[in-house]
Amino acid sequence: MSEKDIIICRCNDVTQKEIEDLIDQGITDIEEIKRLTRIGMGPCQGRTCIPLVMRIIARKTGKKIEEIPVPATRVPTRPVPMGVLAGAMNNEE
Ligand code: FES
Repeated sequence: MSEKDIIICRCNDVTQKEIEDLIDQGITDIEEIKRLTRIGMGPCQGRTCIPLVMRIIARKTGKKIEEIPVPATRVPTRPVPMGVLAGAMNNEE
């Protein structure tokens, strides 16, 4: 297994090579990489892959990690059992 075969996003089977190829094509915006590869859209909502992709972007572009904007997150960021939502609705009645 080469370094390029490393899975960055386990939820969507995205490899380091796929991310680096996009950056090499000039796509360095994490939102655009997210849309093209679906990183951050799996069950973990990017808790694992987004920080890794931010580090790859920083390394390949020479930017500091603080300069890489964190992609927008959409709630819920954690899976919520339907019973919890149903309970919340019942309490409003
Ligand atoms: S590892 Fe990428 S969305 Fe879960």
